Amino acid sequence: SVEPDVKWLGSPINELKRMPECGRPLPPLRDVPGQHTVMIRTDLLESGKVPAPYPARFQDTWDDVYVKMPCSSRSLFPVVDEFTLLGFLYINNLICLLQNAILKYSASNAKKWDFTALSLYCTKVNNLISFPIPLLKVGMDHSITMSQEQVACLLANAFFCTFPRRNSRRSEYNNYPDINFVRLFGGSSSSKIEKLKTLMCYFQSFTEQKPPGLVTFTRKSLDKPLNWKSSQTRLTKLHITCEGTIEDDGCGMLQVDFANKFVGGGVTSSGLVQEEIRFLINPELIVSRLFTEALDHNECLIITGTQQYSKYTGYSQTYKWNGCHQDVTPRDGWQRRCTEIVAIDALQFKNFLEQFHPQRINRELNKAYCGFARPEEQSQNLAAVATGNWGCGVFGGDTRLKALLQMLAAAEAGRDVAYFTFGDSKLMTDVHNMHSFLTRRKMSIGEVYDLLGQYYSSVCKSCLSRRPDVSLYSFIYQQVGPSSAPDESDGRSARQ
Ligand code: AR6
Repeated sequence: SVEPDVKWLGSPINELKRMPECGRPLPPLRDVPGQHTVMIRTDLLESGKVPAPYPARFQDTWDDVYVKMPCSSRSLFPVVDEFTLLGFLYINNLICLLQNAILKYSASNAKKWDFTALSLYCTKVNNLISFPIPLLKVGMDHSITMSQEQVACLLANAFFCTFPRRNSRRSEYNNYPDINFVRLFGGSSSSKIEKLKTLMCYFQSFTEQKPPGLVTFTRKSLDKPLNWKSSQTRLTKLHITCEGTIEDDGCGMLQVDFANKFVGGGVTSSGLVQEEIRFLINPELIVSRLFTEALDHNECLIITGTQQYSKYTGYSQTYKWNGCHQDVTPRDGWQRRCTEIVAIDALQFKNFLEQFHPQRINRELNKAYCGFARPEEQSQNLAAVATGNWGCGVFGGDTRLKALLQMLAAAEAGRDVAYFTFGDSKLMTDVHNMHSFLTRRKMSIGEVYDLLGQYYSSVCKSCLSRRPDVSLYSFIYQQVGPSSAPDESDGRSARQ
């Protein structure tokens, strides 16, 4: 039974590592052709100063390797189809829309609102973004670093729907997320208004005070799937709590974005759950949609350095913008906020039993491992993973299975875990008991993986009902059996 006043279990959160304390010093920032595109003058990079764009003159490209930019000379001759036309009409209508929206919700803001700056960003795009932005395509391991000012410029363009060839799903960008905000302006739901308020707060904060930092976007793949069965690794530490959130309490940790394979999911349309909310309060994340092709099963996107501009209350239908947020997260040697977010997309399950299939388990383990592992770093330099019910909301996964899979992936990657159950205290107790049971029994990752396979073949495979008769955790307790040492408590009270 759960004591009502127990809010966390496992290791105290202050025993888990965070950035920047746990990290090693960064090497100097530099552009590496084919690996890392750096869009600013690294030689002029200085703390507190807005970085200078690189190169000085705009390089005009129009091909399938780089983002097609609104400022390209080629973009002046668009194929005028109904979609482009719609886009242009929108820009004009937007001015009215903006003013109305601001006047309606906050008269004081309307006076302060500097709309010219926003339009300026639109025209200034070719001064600020002079270097072609590579498309991060499927299978590419590549990073892009740009200034927060460049991000804002791109987002202002997204707001005004100026990115060419991006308004039709049938276009060459059909395997990319939407970037133009056109779908954000439609519909009459009150949550759209809260989303707009959140984004306005970003543009306003930005125009009031330009943040002087950088943001890095890294697409990464796992070149070969791991051999989970043979892993001798043991579980790492777990802090589990039914209070708090990944973004508030996972500061400096590797924070998981419960992503869609199109990163950002429905942020520029109607979605409003974990991923969309994160993209709204840290809008710099939205720029990833401009150049990140849909993630494949063995891929993730890591975004380092975004800033939180808004606070919120509620969730999904009850989501409300709750004012501006002052982000005090320290910056690293590359002038990036020490906020590392990893987008990993879980599988969506319509049929509950399907997720226990070994193939699905492998996919989810490898996806999480791809997001958590940093082979170039030592375990002592890696921050804990801040996560929670990944894939278990909209995507219909089982929290107890997913918690276990994420613990295995994090352990294999050499990281501890801070798990936020989002108010579920029963889940907190169950996962904690399982973690202490497996730890006390010195079970290796390979052994736990093997138990998952046994669970599938002896319980799920032959199951005729929608849900298995024996739960995964009960099965594991049964299979491993009681401890030979009678005085050891195995957390067996949580067997039900
Ligand atoms: N901190 C910790 N836990 C949270 C937080 C938070 N800030 N917010 C939500 N949760 P969901 P999915 C918990 O449904 O199932 C999006 O549209 C809460 O218990 O967002 O992986 C994406 O773009 C919630 O039920 O993730 C994808 O299309 C659970 O996390 C799709 O949803 C799952 O949140 C992904 O769906």
